[in-house]
Amino acid sequence: MPTIRPQSLPLRALRAPSTSRSQSQFSRQIKLTPSVSPVASIPSKAQSHQFLRNHTTSSVSQDEVSHFSSLASSWWDPMGPSRILHLMNPLRHEFIASCLAESSPSTDTQASTSTSTATATATASPPANLHYLDIGCGGGIFAESLARTIPLDPSNPAPTPTRAASMTAIDPTTDLIQIAKKHARLDPTVDSHLRSGKFRYLNTTLEDVLASESESNPGSTSTSTSTSSSTSSSSVTHPQFDIVTLFEVIEHIDPKTTTYQSFLEKCLSAVKPGGWLIGSTISRTFPSFLLNQVIAEAPWPIGVVPRGTHEWSKFVNPPELHGWAQEGLMRLADGGVTRAGSGALDGMLWKCVGAVYVPGFGWKMVPGSEDWGNYFWAVRRGV
Ligand SMILES: C[S@@+](CC[C@H](N)C(=O)[O-])C[C@H]1O[C@@H](n2cnc3c(N)ncnc32)[C@H](O)[C@@H]1O
Repeated sequence: MPTIRPQSLPLRALRAPSTSRSQSQFSRQIKLTPSVSPVASIPSKAQSHQFLRNHTTSSVSQDEVSHFSSLASSWWDPMGPSRILHLMNPLRHEFIASCLAESSPSTDTQASTSTSTATATATASPPANLHYLDIGCGGGIFAESLARTIPLDPSNPAPTPTRAASMTAIDPTTDLIQIAKKHARLDPTVDSHLRSGKFRYLNTTLEDVLASESESNPGSTSTSTSTSSSTSSSSVTHPQFDIVTLFEVIEHIDPKTTTYQSFLEKCLSAVKPGGWLIGSTISRTFPSFLLNQVIAEAPWPIGVVPRGTHEWSKFVNPPELHGWAQEGLMRLADGGVTRAGSGALDGMLWKCVGAVYVPGFGWKMVPGSEDWGNYFWAVRRGV
């Protein structure tokens, strides 16, 4: 346990004092078109306050946006405050690959079994036909790495297990989206995807994505959803994606304006039937309290963050996430009016594995360590 102490922290653990309010500016009516002004023209504080007043949808906390704005300039510094996220990124790809190996979304929304997937993988390179949405992408550490796996030539097979055809990355923090776009332009391949629209950064919220029409999103489809258990079917007009990712975000939503269950349900509604919602977060347990709050916030040289930087109470335990996901799928099955029966969970899969940092070796998946702190989780929607 001591060996993982300082590194098994959430980004929040490395929080620097907030120095500014949000600089986000976007309209609630946007239709999934980039709303971010060029990097050079950062909105004024007055504009950001305008955004905050107008923004009513929202799972977004003003304090969180202000905090993450203050980290934007150092986001891509591998030794900076976002170091933990940089180090964790390879594990995200590993975990996504494990999800796809277990059940691969299919473009015709028919479920693929692990057996059929394994057979396809063994006989031919899988197509790069999966559309991704990264919610709370921050400065783009994961989104950019995923975009790098999109083939330049669509007729080419996917170069990695991600099978990515497109990536839409969204974040409510304007400064981070600006930094993300600026960094993405440095890589010719990624820049090319930005230009073609296969890779998009949008300064927007999940709520606004769900309020938009799917036709404006080339990488997504709307579906008419019905389940065997549901007596009604609901027509979905908002964008849906094969893979929706939510890395280190759920513990940052505003508990005063939304609930975890409702936020998770919204995330799931952005997932095509047969697709995956994949995330990572931190357990709210006694060991994680010790590791992430008490020890990590101890005076130097033991601690690595200033005292008071954790919000342990906002951490989420795996069984809670599992339960909220089930509840969300049942509500989605009947349009959210009532609560469908357990048949709505047919085809649902749940995956969860702890992740710890071993000095000198980096982050490792450690099954059974979910209670210690960081963990990956995934929910597959039934078809
Ligand atoms: C710890 S960072 C993680 C960034 C990125 N997912 C990564 O792991 O590299 C949390 C991100 O969540 C975003 N965020 C906060 N509240 C959010 C909300 N309600 N909906 C979507 N994103 C949110 C923040 O702006 C910030 O970029």
